[in-house]
Amino acid sequence: MTQNQNRRILLASRPTGWPEPANFRLVTEAIPAPGAKEVLVRALWLSVDPYMRGRMSAAKSYTKPVEVGEVMTGGVVGQVVTSLHPAFRPGEIVEGSLGWQDYAVAEASLLRKIDPGLAPIQTAVGILGMPGMTAYFAFLEVCQPKAGDTVVVSGAAGAVGQIVGQIGKINGCRVVGIAGDDGKLAHLKRDCGFDATINYKTSNDLPAAVTAACPNGVDVYFDNVGGAVSEAVFNSLAFKARIVICGQISQYNLDKPDLGPRNLRYMLVNRARMEGFLVWDWRDRYPEAIRRLAGWIKDGRIKYSEHVAEGLEKTPEAFIAMLRGANLGKALVKVADPA
Ligand SMILES: NC(=O)c1ccc[n+]([C@@H]2O[C@H](COP(=O)([O-])OP(=O)(O)OC[C@H]3O[C@@H](n4cnc5c(N)ncnc54)[C@H](OP(=O)(O)O)[C@@H]3O)[C@@H](O)[C@H]2O)c1
Repeated sequence: MTQNQNRRILLASRPTGWPEPANFRLVTEAIPAPGAKEVLVRALWLSVDPYMRGRMSAAKSYTKPVEVGEVMTGGVVGQVVTSLHPAFRPGEIVEGSLGWQDYAVAEASLLRKIDPGLAPIQTAVGILGMPGMTAYFAFLEVCQPKAGDTVVVSGAAGAVGQIVGQIGKINGCRVVGIAGDDGKLAHLKRDCGFDATINYKTSNDLPAAVTAACPNGVDVYFDNVGGAVSEAVFNSLAFKARIVICGQISQYNLDKPDLGPRNLRYMLVNRARMEGFLVWDWRDRYPEAIRRLAGWIKDGRIKYSEHVAEGLEKTPEAFIAMLRGANLGKALVKVADPA
């Protein structure tokens, strides 16, 4: 159904602690018209991601926050409606940071053309988009895995974590996943080839559980969550361990910062290396990662799962549910079918 109005979800207020539906406001406006060299895009899929919690806050970060009253930021897979730029034609599928709205006008340079033959189009915000790029470069480039390494992934059942573990298996590593739900853990072992899993919510001694799952120590720790989970993993670091700080989701909804890890002495003793990661720094190499990840999907060596909510108006709910762990794999909102 083509609508003739643009529904937009704005940031209504900044959350304290966990975001709530009242922090967002749905408004209806006229569909914008593209100016010279611009493109009008209709959203088909919206991505909901942990980083959006940071953009709702005024705290200093690597980029500026969404202002109260502005449309919420977010990755979108959409279809070109009108193009005043020669590089894009109506009907083409594109990806861009177009926000939580039905229609957006974008500068052509901010849009990426999607090849629908490669994989389902929504993967352009999933495994063949930002989360997949993150898994690929943070793991292969920062962690430098070697065959035989023991790799621990936190946030293992999410969009990034699932892919990291499977790239680990392709590289001959032993992979241990940490997540907060037994159903998710069963999926990691059954469908994604993880060797061992740990439920951080039900384990009554997390450091002991990591030690038991990693008898030779942890060579690589891919950290998506931070906090107590990471502290438990640091206890078991192996000599020359590599740690990538990809995400710290356990901290995003805290009013006051948590205590830092108190056991960094294990890094010292083991001469470990820890490095922060931001996917945008690797944008020049995205085509390489897309090509390889698409190849692994086609060969059946990587599986990906999606957690889909239906309807633009459900986006705030879907976002909050993802932060609370409702998703297995990539959290998405389906807005419309292609015309
Ligand atoms: N640095 C970068 O460039 C970059 C790029 C993309 C993503 N990231 C980061 O990577 C991480 C994963 O992102 P994603 O898109 O793949 O999200 P995701 O894992 O698909 O979804 C978030 C998951 O976090 C888990 N979680 C929530 N609260 C937690 C807590 N207190 N402790 C442990 N786990 C918790 C939940 O799973 P459970 O059921 O297991 O609790 C939830 O499903 C996030 O921290 C994100 O900020 C960083």
